[in-house]
This record gives sequence, C-alpha cells and structure tokens, in this order.
Amino acid sequence: MSTAKTALIIGASRGLGLGLVQRLLEDGWQVTATVRNPHKAEALQALGNVQIEQLDMDDQQAVIALSQKLKDQVFDLLFVNAGVKGPDNQLPGHATQAEVGQLFFTNAVAPINLAQRFVGQIRKDSGVLAFMSSVLGSVTIPDAPEMALYKASKAALNSMTNSFVTQLEQQLTVLSLHPGWVKTDMGGENAEIDVPTSTHGLIAQINAYAGKGGHHFINYKGETIPW
Ligand SMILES: NC(=O)c1ccc[n+]([C@@H]2O[C@H](COP(=O)([O-])OP(=O)(O)OC[C@H]3O[C@@H](n4cnc5c(N)ncnc54)[C@H](OP(=O)(O)O)[C@@H]3O)[C@@H](O)[C@H]2O)c1
Repeated sequence: MSTAKTALIIGASRGLGLGLVQRLLEDGWQVTATVRNPHKAEALQALGNVQIEQLDMDDQQAVIALSQKLKDQVFDLLFVNAGVKGPDNQLPGHATQAEVGQLFFTNAVAPINLAQRFVGQIRKDSGVLAFMSSVLGSVTIPDAPEMALYKASKAALNSMTNSFVTQLEQQLTVLSLHPGWVKTDMGGENAEIDVPTSTHGLIAQINAYAGKGGHHFINYKGETIPW
C-alpha cells in the first residue's frame, strides 16, 4: 500500500493552482487536480503523474458527479484554489448584477458547496481543508479600494468558511490562506513574488498546521491576518 499523502486541488490549469500541484509532486504527494477546460490542461499534464479531472466549480451537478467519481478516495489535503477577479470596474454602480453574482458565487459560495461535498473524504485528525482567500478579504485592511468587489467576495468567503466550520461534526484543520501578491494572470507582472515562492510557503503552512485543528487565517509565511 502506498504511504504517499494525497491531495485534491481545485483549479489547477495555471497560476497558483498549477504551482501547488508542482510543489506537491516534488514532495512525493499523489495529486488529483481539476481544470475547467481539458483542452487547457497541457501545463498540468506536463507535470507528469497527476490524475486530472474536469470541473467547473460553479456547476453543482458537476460537483456532485465528481464527488461520486472520487468517493472512495481519502485526501490529506483538499485545496480550493479556484477564484476570479471580477469586473474591471469595481465601483458600485458600474458592475452589472450578473457580474457581481458571478464573482460572489465563484469566490464565496461555490468553494463552500464543494467543501461540503468532499469534507467526509478528508483524512480524519490530520487532514487539512484549505481555501485560497486573500489579505484583501480582511475587513480591517483599507488597501486596493479599486478592487472593492473582489475584496468583499473574499471577505464573504472567509465568513462562509466560518459558518461552515462551526457546523462541522468532525475535528478538522481549516486554513484560509493568503498566497502573497503573486505574479499570475490575476496578480499581474508587477506582483511582489513568484509562484514557486508563494506555493513553497503555502505547502509549508499546510504541513505545519496538519493535525492542529481549528480555523486559521494566515499568509504563505505563516503570519496571522486579522479577520
Ligand atoms: N495572484 C495573486 O496575487 C493572488 C492574491 C491573493 C489571492 N489570490 C487567489 O488565488 C487563487 C488563484 O489565483 P491565481 O493568481 O492563480 O489566478 P489565475 O491565474 O487567474 O488562475 C485562476 C484559476 O482558477 C480557475 N477557476 C476560475 N473559476 C473557476 C471555476 N468556476 N471553476 C473551476 N476553476 C475555476 C481558473 O481556471 P481556468 O484556467 O479555466 O480559467 C484558473 O485555474 C484565486 O482564488 C485568487 O483569488 C491570488
């Protein structure tokens, strides 16, 4: 029987999700990773030994189908990484109802819906459930008012996670993680750090927190962020 740790990474076609898969493979983990579009999975495929599944996290039927397909697997880590930035103009009155609905559904509602479906498959005692939050989701931080809707969507994710955690029957470690400001399609090329720096840090925090229990809002360096 293999003793390798197992991970399910949601949203791994590019950026931080792809980087997380790469780090985990380097560390000897067995990884299942999802992409929305299998025709855009070349970078993930090139990493080698990854079980690739198709999932649009917003599609409830697809989430149910994937949970059925993977129902016999146990995961040491479920990492819900997928997220979107939202409309270019985030001033109230500019974004449409559909854009705001899409942003909040993808960033705050769909991750919890998915976690609810898979939580029973996270390894008892030592398993970690991680959500890709952002320091911009901290309601105490005044930075980036031009991204007001994105910020509110990550604050909503943190709040939804908190509600979810309080209803859990099992002891679990839940992490709301800030990856740093990272050079990806979303973070842009002026961002402060690269994907390897961020994902090395994120995986280090996951390993450090495994088995501790509780819900923590921390960055990739392990520093606590105020809610
Ligand atoms: N980069 C930063 O500086 C930064 C800072 C703080 C937090 N974050 C968070 O980190 C996470 C990853 O960001 P990133 O910088 O790597 O962004 P990215 O390069 O834009 O990648 C976003 C990923 O999410 C996937 N995705 C989006 N909507 C999805 C859905 N409905 N179902 C499934 N997958 C979906 C995308 O898939 P497709 O390829 O199919 O579009 C892609 O794999 C996000 O949650 C983001 O909010 C990023």
